[in-house]
Amino acid sequence: MVDILRATTTMITALENGIKSIVPVESVRECHELREKGFLGAAERDGKIADGFELGNSPFDYMNPSYSGKKVALTTTNGTKTIFSIQGADKIIFAAFVNVTSTADFLEHLARDVVIVCAGWKEEVNLEDTVCAGALIDKLAPSFSVEGDPAIIAHKLFVASEGHLDMLLNSASHVRRLKNLDLQKDIDFCLKMDTYRIIPEMRDGEIVPRILDQ
Ligand code: MLT
Repeated sequence: MVDILRATTTMITALENGIKSIVPVESVRECHELREKGFLGAAERDGKIADGFELGNSPFDYMNPSYSGKKVALTTTNGTKTIFSIQGADKIIFAAFVNVTSTADFLEHLARDVVIVCAGWKEEVNLEDTVCAGALIDKLAPSFSVEGDPAIIAHKLFVASEGHLDMLLNSASHVRRLKNLDLQKDIDFCLKMDTYRIIPEMRDGEIVPRILDQ
């Protein structure tokens, strides 16, 4: 699953910075309930931290050594909702530009059929998730056959925009939305490639770092 701005980028960053696990929840109410049970509560709606919460969906929220070893309950506008829509999958892993090469390496080694699910924005396609899916497909293309027009469109869009990816992504609607919230720092961070090698995966309802030999 891919949600560049910002859910999957944030999950990867949080686990890289020592968060033990992330429990995705659909509603702000459930997030609040888990916070009462000792989780760190993180809730985002429309790019903003939800009322009553200190943590939202910025990767920078999790670069805090005092959170190391803690479990986070997370709800976001689109990302966590998407996770619940793909629960039947054999394996769910989380990708973003920040871990795109390690994700491709893992999928190549896994040698299984892959469906890239983009969170998009409120049931609509978005630019940044599509281009990241295209980047992943580009890395996998030599060893996989690419099936279906959505995957072909994503791949062609990535290839056509190589070298001027920033320009293309700057026109994305969520980039504009986050800029209006003064979150340029988050945008820059989320659009960087291969900052990390870690790959989060879903296990028994929790998002945890994938153990390297599995
Ligand atoms: C989402 O899940 O909708 C997003 O990641 C939104 C955001 O926090 O920018």
